[in-house]
Amino acid sequence: MSFEGAKIVLGISGSIAAYKAVYLGRELVRRGAEVRVAMTKNAAKFVTPLTFRAALSCPVVVDEFEDPTDFNMQHISWSKWADIIVIAPATANIIAKCAGGIANDFLSTTILAANSPVLFVPAMNSAMFLNPATQRNIKTLHQLGHFVMQPDSGDLACGESGAGRFPEIEKIIAEIETLLSIEKTLTGHKILITAGPTREYIDSVRFISNPSTGKMGYAIAEMAVRFGAETTLISGPVEITPPYGVRIIYVTSAEKMYNAVMSEFGAHDIAIMASAVADYTPTKKFPGKIKKTADSMAIELTRTRDILAELGKNKGDKILVGFALETDNLIENAKDKLIRKNLDIIFANLESEKTGFSADTNAGVIIDKDGNIEEIPLLSKRKIAVILLRKIQQVIEKRAGYSK
Ligand code: CTP
Repeated sequence: MSFEGAKIVLGISGSIAAYKAVYLGRELVRRGAEVRVAMTKNAAKFVTPLTFRAALSCPVVVDEFEDPTDFNMQHISWSKWADIIVIAPATANIIAKCAGGIANDFLSTTILAANSPVLFVPAMNSAMFLNPATQRNIKTLHQLGHFVMQPDSGDLACGESGAGRFPEIEKIIAEIETLLSIEKTLTGHKILITAGPTREYIDSVRFISNPSTGKMGYAIAEMAVRFGAETTLISGPVEITPPYGVRIIYVTSAEKMYNAVMSEFGAHDIAIMASAVADYTPTKKFPGKIKKTADSMAIELTRTRDILAELGKNKGDKILVGFALETDNLIENAKDKLIRKNLDIIFANLESEKTGFSADTNAGVIIDKDGNIEEIPLLSKRKIAVILLRKIQQVIEKRAGYSK
């Protein structure tokens, strides 16, 4: 992928992984990006500004007051200039500072003044990364509309092993590419998204469910906002922080999801059903807790209503997108679902370790109403969300009678 013309501020904070940022910076430059480096004072103890100046042939600022080469409020001018700000490595300290809105050096000031996407790439000791304070700060960064990559797991510079490693350069490059490819092309549209599993209660403390984590639906909601759409997310019970700018409605059972979707559908022009809705629910819900008195028991189940199929019956000119998780005959089954549920687009994938419910990645095929099949290689769920939103944009353009 080329970054020709992309303007990137590369922020370096004080982690031993700062030396890896030299390779990241060189790779960005090699792909055509224009790079400027903003370093903290501690980062400059690990790798000198001269290293970046020489290896990347780019401007480097540590302290705009000590070294004002051309004083034009650089933190503001760099923030305005950037298409993206990437803080790699991001220490627990810079994460905490930015979560708290602190701006006491060149890098943190540039981040606070940002009007482009900001991507944090954490690298630190795993105890520091997993500390509830750091996790809370990362959550806050998400809520402030920033992006935070998951660090890799493995051997760390401190001699310990765990989560906190600087991710592979290729992974960071892919994430930057995803964020640079965001366009405000869905401004004026209203998107309804479902995500996560449903819980079908047997008694007051037990339920039938599935391992859906909601990651795919949440990634679509996160990106839909960036594409300019007004976004509503109807979510089953999941562990994910609500994405920035999304209106969220929490539900538990398939019936509650059905009711929520039906009351929201009319106000939206695009619906993307990424949730793993239970197909069956206990016919009778036992009041209270069932005691283990019987040697065996049978639970009678009743079919739930198919929300997506129901939307398909009354969709008018709205755009409807469905998901299909299959174990075999991927394309055949997905095409059948697309027709049966009257969809415009379907994303279908086979269950595997890297494409399943809990993975951060996915792969599969996107099939549209005209029978076009696009193979999607293994990519981050965020990237797949961008591809899907672009596909929706194409359907809108085609309907309007033109194509880019
Ligand atoms: N879906 C839904 N309501 C249901 C079940 C599924 O809205 N009660 C939606 C899912 O959100 C997904 C799509 O339908 O977008 C695919 O669901 P799936 O259960 O895999 O398809 P089915 O038609 O039920 O086919 P099968 O169970 O035979 O695989």
